[in-house]
Amino acid sequence: MLEDAIIKEKLAVFGGSKVVPDGAIKPWPPIDDVDRKMVLASLEGGSHTYGPNCQALEKEFAEWNGNKHVLTCNSGTAALHMAVVGCGCGAGDEVIVPAYTWPSSATCCLHHNVIPVFVDIDWETMNIDVGRIEAAVTPRTKVIMAVHLHGLMVDMDAVMAVAAKHKLKVIEDCCQAHGAKFRGRKAGTIGHCSAFSCNQNKCLCSGEGGFFVTNDEAILEKGKTLWYFGEHRPPEATGGYHAYGMGWMYRNTDLTAAFARAQLTRLDDYLVRQKANAERLTECLAEVPNLILPTTPAGCEHNFYNYTFRFDMEALGHARDAKSFRDKLVKALNAEGAQTGVWQGWPVPEMTVFQAKDAYGKGCPWCHGRPVDYSLDQYPVARKHCDWHTGMTTPLRSPNGPEVAELVAGAFAKVMGNVEQIEKVEV
Ligand SMILES: Cc1ncc(COP(=O)(O)O)c(C=O)c1O
Repeated sequence: MLEDAIIKEKLAVFGGSKVVPDGAIKPWPPIDDVDRKMVLASLEGGSHTYGPNCQALEKEFAEWNGNKHVLTCNSGTAALHMAVVGCGCGAGDEVIVPAYTWPSSATCCLHHNVIPVFVDIDWETMNIDVGRIEAAVTPRTKVIMAVHLHGLMVDMDAVMAVAAKHKLKVIEDCCQAHGAKFRGRKAGTIGHCSAFSCNQNKCLCSGEGGFFVTNDEAILEKGKTLWYFGEHRPPEATGGYHAYGMGWMYRNTDLTAAFARAQLTRLDDYLVRQKANAERLTECLAEVPNLILPTTPAGCEHNFYNYTFRFDMEALGHARDAKSFRDKLVKALNAEGAQTGVWQGWPVPEMTVFQAKDAYGKGCPWCHGRPVDYSLDQYPVARKHCDWHTGMTTPLRSPNGPEVAELVAGAFAKVMGNVEQIEKVEV
């Protein structure tokens, strides 16, 4: 079937006809009457700040994920910051972070004068290279940030073993990992505390929002100090409207929580469909040349938040100009209607704030710690991944079905089967 698609024909980027017709890929997230009813009820209810829907959402997400404590907040970044504080980090302490992730996994540390130390990723899983974590531990290390990227969980047995050996805490960044599993255990139930995001693109979407989750009462109490203005009272305190400590404003709103509650009723169905669509895409792409498809290690259940894979730039003869050739391929694929992209094009330590080592001015927070080295030759795998990958979310999400995965695979088959035209694509 796909062999038929690998024919010499004019690419859509040069005026040929598109493989994926306009409108074939439905947008994310699906909205139905449950969403409308719940959001309108919140609107007409009396409390639009942290209200009854927020409290109900916390209970429902705790039940869904199997956590003791859930605080809903206004972003995954806020939840990560609460996690860093919950784990007892302070000025000059270090957190081990993968060199390839969303910047918040590292900038959440800066907000508390804490210093990220980056570890390269593993080529197969695209997650932190667990074999390199221990070498990054110093007397200042407090936390390992285990980011479950693209919806594939890190080898948590390996992470927890290093943490136990060095008496470190583990934060799971589950912003992309709702419902993903490692050896039967859900993301957000293994580390000391975790952060989830509910932003527009996430598997559980409420526009913005997030959860700080933990089973540890002490971590909850410490993290909570940030949640609203530093007003969270220690048990011995009495008065209100008083900053007992350094606080931000990280609470969720009732309207957003109502939306999240409605979406949560369908999350399991979304995840089943996403996984089936990803499996269909993998089957179809297996016939397409010069792609390196994602693999799922034994014991892991991927949620395929982002179906990310690589062009084989060696085989294509473009190892030296991989980034620009990849960008041409992605442009040609999108002209075919594939809706594939480049999620994150930089290793995090390459980003300006880290290279400058200046977040709050005057070299803060790095001035509080020991000197750290962010030279990029330490992250060869992350750098290669940045230049070789592409990935997609919406085409594999509900309400899209396997027929959309087949169409998208057809776009890849056409572009990769006509790769000699790619040089001429202008980016
Ligand atoms: C891995 C990861 N961590 C953290 C975040 C931050 O989440 P939010 O956008 O809700 O602040 C994201 C979201 O994009 C993410 O993908």
